[in-house]
Amino acid sequence: MLRGKKILLIIGGGIAAYKSLDLIRRLRERGASVTPVLTKAGAEFVTPLSVSALAGDKVFTDLFDLTDEAEMGHIQLSRSADLVVVAPATADLMAKMAHGHTNDLASTLLMATDTQVLAAPAMNVRMWDHPATQRNLSQLGADGILFVGPNDGDMACGEFGPGRMAEPLEIVAAIESTLVQGPLTGKRIIVTSGPTHEPIDPVRYIANRSSGAQGTAIARALAAQGADVVFVTGPADVPPPAGVQVVRIETARQMLQAVEDALPADAAVFAAAVADWRVASASGSKIKKDAGRMPVLEFAENPDILARVSQRKADRPALVIGFAAETDNVIAHAEAKRARKGCDWIVANDVSPATGIMGGTENAVHLITADSREDWPRMSKQDVANKLAQRIAEALD
Ligand code: CTP
Repeated sequence: MLRGKKILLIIGGGIAAYKSLDLIRRLRERGASVTPVLTKAGAEFVTPLSVSALAGDKVFTDLFDLTDEAEMGHIQLSRSADLVVVAPATADLMAKMAHGHTNDLASTLLMATDTQVLAAPAMNVRMWDHPATQRNLSQLGADGILFVGPNDGDMACGEFGPGRMAEPLEIVAAIESTLVQGPLTGKRIIVTSGPTHEPIDPVRYIANRSSGAQGTAIARALAAQGADVVFVTGPADVPPPAGVQVVRIETARQMLQAVEDALPADAAVFAAAVADWRVASASGSKIKKDAGRMPVLEFAENPDILARVSQRKADRPALVIGFAAETDNVIAHAEAKRARKGCDWIVANDVSPATGIMGGTENAVHLITADSREDWPRMSKQDVANKLAQRIAEALD
């Protein structure tokens, strides 16, 4: 699957660097060649000798020691690869990438490259949760960096939580899905997913029961067919798929902005459960209990992202797909919704609590187009996604 692919692997300074040795082995087993770059901190955890022995190639360690500058400068080094992989991507490396620092070979390569970058973060759970890292993560997602992991689990530092680097085989799978060639190769597709959170005050918000499972499955299926996916997600229960560009947002208005920033695209799939209303003037400070007086919330209507994109003139995607989550008269409501919003297709489903669809693993949908309707049997959300991705590939062909 990776035969002939060239991977530039940047190994940062974290305990997870030992897993990168196995990653090199797994990549080479699959026919890829690996050019390793070891940061100074990385060399505290694994030795240049073991890295180069496993890679079967010279290991590049420092910008100023790059003796082959004349024959292979750092710019060329960064561009001759099919993919740049950063594993482990430490908090420090992510900060450098987000802010454009270039004070060593790894950060310089990351600035100079015009090749897709995939990062596998690894750090202490508190460092991962720190607002600075989360800010950098959002920035890097918006810059087009792809991520795999981190996973939850016991950490070398004795704590538990998100921050463990993805396992080598998970990173290999993310690399494969990034480099995969398929019917959607070269097509850019925006997918919205998950709920939105609309603030009431700094600690409270209005949300809905969307888990993000269906949107995540769709993004995964499209990426597996080779699409270049921009995944705009609200705070979902399920982690985003590997090999897609993740843009994290919280509110409907942020989602609209992220979608507009991601245009132009060949297709857009609006699977998010967007809040129809937001609190008109969210309080800047926590609303306090006030001698039995109840707060009164006034609402304002959120922009309809699907309708706005469907009605764009110059850069409307060739295929715009909406979802209709209904609890009664599913088909009639969905058909009316397709016409009202101006999208091409509607994927309609019944989300009455008795169906167990919202938050569940299965879905039963109807695919409604301008002149046809297909009733798909109940199946897993991933199967719905795969079938939809296949239909999209046929439509964009
Ligand atoms: N949608 C959107 N922006 C909104 C509301 C909905 O992009 N502000 C999209 C959803 O992602 C979905 C489709 O519109 O693809 C339909 O969402 P749904 O909540 O079912 O429809 P509503 O517009 O809320 O209509 P209604 O309240 O009549 O059901």
